Amino acid sequence: MKFDAKEIFSCKYLSKNIFQLPIILFVATVVLFPLIRIINKPHLYGSIEEETRECNIFFGHWATYHPKEPYYNNETCPHIIDQFNCIKFGRPDREFLKLRWKPYGCELPLFNATEFLRLVQGKSMAFVGDSMARNQMDSLICLLNTAGRLEDVTERYTSKADVFFRWWFSPGYNFTLTILWSPFLVKVTGADQRGRSFDGSMNLYLDDPNDAWASKIEDFDFLIFSTGQWFYRPLTFYENGHIVGGQQGGKFMKDLNLYGYKKAFQTSFKTIMNLKSFKGLTFLVTQSAKHFEHGEYNEGGNCNRTRPFTKEERQGYNYGELLEAMHDIQVDEFREAEKEARKKGLHFDLIDISDATSMRPDAHPDQYGLIYNKNVKVIDCVHWCLPGAIDTWNEFLFYKMKQAIHKTSTSI
Ligand SMILES: *[C@@H]1O[C@H](CO)[C@@H](O)[C@H](O)[C@H]1NC(C)=O
Ligand SMILES: *[C@@H]1O[C@H](CO)[C@@H](O)[C@H](O)[C@H]1NC(C)=O
Ligand SMILES: *[C@@H]1O[C@H](CO)[C@@H](O)[C@H](O)[C@H]1NC(C)=O
Ligand SMILES: *[C@@H]1O[C@H](CO)[C@@H](O)[C@H](O)[C@H]1NC(C)=O
Repeated sequence: MKFDAKEIFSCKYLSKNIFQLPIILFVATVVLFPLIRIINKPHLYGSIEEETRECNIFFGHWATYHPKEPYYNNETCPHIIDQFNCIKFGRPDREFLKLRWKPYGCELPLFNATEFLRLVQGKSMAFVGDSMARNQMDSLICLLNTAGRLEDVTERYTSKADVFFRWWFSPGYNFTLTILWSPFLVKVTGADQRGRSFDGSMNLYLDDPNDAWASKIEDFDFLIFSTGQWFYRPLTFYENGHIVGGQQGGKFMKDLNLYGYKKAFQTSFKTIMNLKSFKGLTFLVTQSAKHFEHGEYNEGGNCNRTRPFTKEERQGYNYGELLEAMHDIQVDEFREAEKEARKKGLHFDLIDISDATSMRPDAHPDQYGLIYNKNVKVIDCVHWCLPGAIDTWNEFLFYKMKQAIHKTSTSI
């Protein structure tokens, strides 16, 4: 697979302040859009196709939508893990399933499993990252399961008991899907690299990519990076074998040392670009929002809302600053990397979920996902219920994949 990656990045990225953008965009759409139409700037709105291409699907709002059924449910998709299976574990309300992301000024197409599978026929896709990557991959498996059977073939690659790595295969489409578990992306040693405990301190080697993914991705056609949640833990950062910083983690991690987070993405992007035969499309899913209220995760906090935030409520969103800081680091590093990648004929693209996720305190498992830490049931305001808001990330992904493939001269 070879892509001619010139001219791929016509969409503008998020500006620094993601929380002002919806307002700016709203004003721009309502006030400026008709004006621009009148002036008829051909380079912006030359054709319908052009218009769709220019639309930023990540700026929008959650609108009420009444599908007959969600794409799938806990009966039609047998692959939902208990951690995300909110309906099975008693979530009583359904309003959170009746919302769709509506970008300002264009439509986000519905996910079409048949089309998706045709696009990836004979190809391979790897999610790289933490449980957020797992959460999105599980959503994708359920979405695809409506059109083509996917088999868990993990034991062909690793021990089936290894709950972190999973491999799937669709015999009908010769499509391979996997998650390469690597929450930090870089090399790590020390306590609790896999456990769910937040106590143990870990050492991150910021200039070394983690072999869990770096040694495996060269032949993949699609790479999707999604990680960040583990950077809240106690960490010591190394570069060139020397300690360069760290953090104690802690409660409300406003003073989180984000240096390691930034470096982990830098190192990862560099690694991809230096792979000799890698020709795949690379996507970065930005930081996902969490929503503990009435206390932190270890202080009895929960997320028991059944509606998205209103604009006013979102003003008081207590993780806003941190989310914005992490998002900005990702986007800045990504932009730099994308320029380099483009020179090398590689396609890097962004799946910018931060803003959309920040508005959905209602879409987490809360008490309705089955997960325990030291025998204590975890209230989960970090991951996302399946089905639910996270299916939108795959609508974004599908849209961006089609766009990338259609824009490149060589067919995939
Ligand atoms: C699906 O969820 C319902 C509860 O809403 C439950 O009764 C049913 O057993 C679940 N089905 C499966 C296959 O888990
Ligand atoms: C999905 O795409 C296929 C192939 O293009 C088409 O036949 C089908 O009608 C689409 N399904 C939906 C629900 O749009
Ligand atoms: C399946 O896809 C792989 C690439 O992922 C390719 O090497 C192989 O030839 C394909 N097999 C068939 C039967 O098409
Ligand atoms: C949500 O949780 C808070 C804190 O535990 C509680 O005071 C409130 O009544 C709950 N709201 C609903 C709708 O259950």
